[in-house]
Amino acid sequence: MKKRAKREQALQLANATSARASATVLKWVTLAGCLFLWALVVLAAPAHAQQTPRTRESINQDWRFTRGDPAGMTADLRYDVRPEFDDTGDGKAADARPEEAARIDGSGANVLKRWILPTANPFIKDPAQHHARPAGNPGEDVSYVQPGFDDSSWEQVNLPHDWAIAGPFITEGPYGGMGRLKSWGIGWYRRSIDVPASDAGKSIFLDVDGAMSHATVWLNGTLVGGWPYGYNSWRVDLTRHVVPGGRNVLAIRLDNPPASARWYPGGGLYRDIWLTKTDPVRVAHWGSAVTTRDVSAASATIDVRLTLDNASAAAAGVSATTDIYALGADGKRSRRPVAQITHTGGEVAAGGSLTLAGRAALASPRLWGPPPTQSPNLYLAVSTIRTSGRVTDVFETRFGIRDVRFDATRGVLVNGEKVRIQGVNNHHDLGALGAAFNRRAAQRQLQILREMGVNAVRMSHNPPAPGLLDLTDEMGFLVMDEVFDSWELKKTPLDFHLIFPEWREADLRAMIRRDRNHPSVILWSVGNEVGEQYSGEEGAQLTRELVAIAKDEDPSRLTTVAMNFAKADMPMPAEVDVISLNYQGAGIRGIIGQYPAFHAAFPDKVILSSESASALSSRGEYLFPVAGATSGPVRPYSGGDPVTHQVSAYELHASDFGSSADRVFASDDQHPYVAGEFVWTGFDYLGEPTPYYTSRSSYSGIIDLAGFAKDRFWLYQSRWRPELKFAHILPHWTWPGREGQITPVHVFSSADEAELFVNGTSQGKIKKRDYEYRFRWDYVTYAPGEVRVETWKDGKPWASASVRTTGAASALALEPDRAVIAADGKDLSFVTLRVLDAAGAMVRPAKNPIRFSIEGPGEIVATDNGDPTDMTAFPSHQRDAFNGLALVIVRGLPGKTGKVTVRAEAEGLGSASTTISTTSRTAAMK
Ligand code: GAL
Repeated sequence: MKKRAKREQALQLANATSARASATVLKWVTLAGCLFLWALVVLAAPAHAQQTPRTRESINQDWRFTRGDPAGMTADLRYDVRPEFDDTGDGKAADARPEEAARIDGSGANVLKRWILPTANPFIKDPAQHHARPAGNPGEDVSYVQPGFDDSSWEQVNLPHDWAIAGPFITEGPYGGMGRLKSWGIGWYRRSIDVPASDAGKSIFLDVDGAMSHATVWLNGTLVGGWPYGYNSWRVDLTRHVVPGGRNVLAIRLDNPPASARWYPGGGLYRDIWLTKTDPVRVAHWGSAVTTRDVSAASATIDVRLTLDNASAAAAGVSATTDIYALGADGKRSRRPVAQITHTGGEVAAGGSLTLAGRAALASPRLWGPPPTQSPNLYLAVSTIRTSGRVTDVFETRFGIRDVRFDATRGVLVNGEKVRIQGVNNHHDLGALGAAFNRRAAQRQLQILREMGVNAVRMSHNPPAPGLLDLTDEMGFLVMDEVFDSWELKKTPLDFHLIFPEWREADLRAMIRRDRNHPSVILWSVGNEVGEQYSGEEGAQLTRELVAIAKDEDPSRLTTVAMNFAKADMPMPAEVDVISLNYQGAGIRGIIGQYPAFHAAFPDKVILSSESASALSSRGEYLFPVAGATSGPVRPYSGGDPVTHQVSAYELHASDFGSSADRVFASDDQHPYVAGEFVWTGFDYLGEPTPYYTSRSSYSGIIDLAGFAKDRFWLYQSRWRPELKFAHILPHWTWPGREGQITPVHVFSSADEAELFVNGTSQGKIKKRDYEYRFRWDYVTYAPGEVRVETWKDGKPWASASVRTTGAASALALEPDRAVIAADGKDLSFVTLRVLDAAGAMVRPAKNPIRFSIEGPGEIVATDNGDPTDMTAFPSHQRDAFNGLALVIVRGLPGKTGKVTVRAEAEGLGSASTTISTTSRTAAMK
């Protein structure tokens, strides 16, 4: 029976074959033609079309998420025994109770760190210090780690995901420091990953750009590793635990301690996550180091070092070449390499590593440097690894060619040009989007900063998202990359100090290895205001150790540590290459400015202000009376309103240890050897709402949390972009009820002379004197109408401006920052709402409640208004305008192109709408 069937089948096949014979001939001819065309394409294709066994797949989509451990879990899982903390503090309040958590097994049975520490091994130099994985598989009995667990009732989320940002805000209790959002606690994420049978023999890694925090990863029920520090990027090797062709389920547990930070850390898998697959013989994790030297317009030397790993069971003879391509402003590489390197080959032992060096000379390099005087040109090094002629890896490293020098009297020189640091500090949160990294949101921040004249960013106080450094490379910002806010001595009860002893080397090496090819990074900071400043020799010893690690990992860059206490004659500053002073340069708490003392003690070291100002204000909140002094602390009714918890936007007040922008400028001008400043901060951030800890977000930003400029923006712009002809008047001029009262008028402009008119009457012409940075008329009497200023520079007319009294709020307007966005579920349009009067002028004091809605293939991700006291949860579609403005953040639904209509309505003000097109990514980028 079977035989007959087979014969019939064969017959049918033969018949069909003969019947199709002529068609087959035709097909062969076509196929030959195609092959010829293919050969043509391949031969003519640029060298970079080389096939690579390396793949890197985003696995951001389709995770399942839940908060808390499973009910009835028999024993706690903890990274480590830690001081018990009662969950009510934010680091400003209660300290940790000293006794250890009673429920944790003293034998360490459920303490996971011994299984997690081996993840750090590639970043621990001394093999004798490497951690061995103990026997056992902690957590295996927990239902959430088991592949068969039914997680269908869990929330479905896409990454990056910040589990706390949606709120609600915690309006009571001492949670201001951490932003009044419950970022702490336990969370689990689960997802299956695609490992087809054809992946057998490959090395497979989970690459995590950031997980907040104390991550533990299980694959198919086996604990494979993890990383406690929430800001670093890390990798776990899944190879031994995957089942090619089978179902592979990841379970990631995060345990974010309370009181872990002085600001909002966020929580969750808040950055991108990747699945990387390679040949066993491959470039190691972050295994390339590209540096440039002897850089001039005529030529440059490019050194490429490649560290190779061999995870196979046999030694491998390897050879490597690196092709260097120029990248265009659009990110496209040149058709042909501009330089090529043949590395000296070698043999990598089974399970071993090998570093191959190589160098190329490049004529007429297009240098990387900060605008406006230079351009951020980039190159791409494509390294091809071969074993017995077979390509086992193709590894890409983007870099820039630049020469950065620190000169004790001239400051920072980039490609020989002195670049004064006009920098800001920023925390990692993106306002209403929280800690979840979003490239467009970060790019918008940098664009706003650039508009103000910023050329440098300090990553305070932790390794940033890798995507942020991609942006600083592409846009040409200088970066101080910083690793820790605390060492052994804590700042909050459960901060990094708990893991510093075991993780400092791995965390510092990991950051540097990850970030060293970014041309924007010019300086490594090993710490911020660490308590060890006070501990004399002990602190100096730790500094020395961290600096040595940094130099070992990257000898091409200098190191620093930010000091707000250590004085010139103390041991710590001698250990770093660059002296970074927080506040104390300009003077702090009555102690005179420290620049001269440091300059005298370290005449060969560059000094810069790693934190300046810490000036405080709420956008558009002008409080009276206005202080006569240029700089002072916020006090009730002197800069601060103890009832509304707003700080005056006259921009004259600062934290107790800080100074107004004007006072910092004066200090900078009096100490020209200082290389520049990083203002605390560019943007407001979640948490640390000095001086009102009942609020949710800071007051220190030059730009508010929603991204709207405070008046200070124009004060900095007048200094940092002095060529811009403008005059900026404050306050607004709509003060019903203030008629006849003293209402000072201040003007920010780079002009040197100005005359103010109120309803045509001159209030006097004034000239700026030395160390004055604003024009101020402090005895103006308010009368509705118009305030106008005329300005001059060097005797010639410069700019004029006016502000008029507006009528009642009567209309709304919506304006998107981008009217075309990609329908990729990531790209964003930031839509500004303005409250207008009948004549179309913005009503600056308006605080009307607004309702937002959306139609079409888009969603409202969040709304905000920049008011630090606003406790409306960010996803809310209802938001009060704050001083005339509100913000709606719109995202296109992935894969759904079309027209999105955003609408705003308010009682008595009618409605307004705007349209955003969501389209393919290429069309959106045009
Ligand atoms: C500094 C500190 C910053 C921030 C700032 C507030 O002392 O380094 O992280 O707290 O003060 O002004």
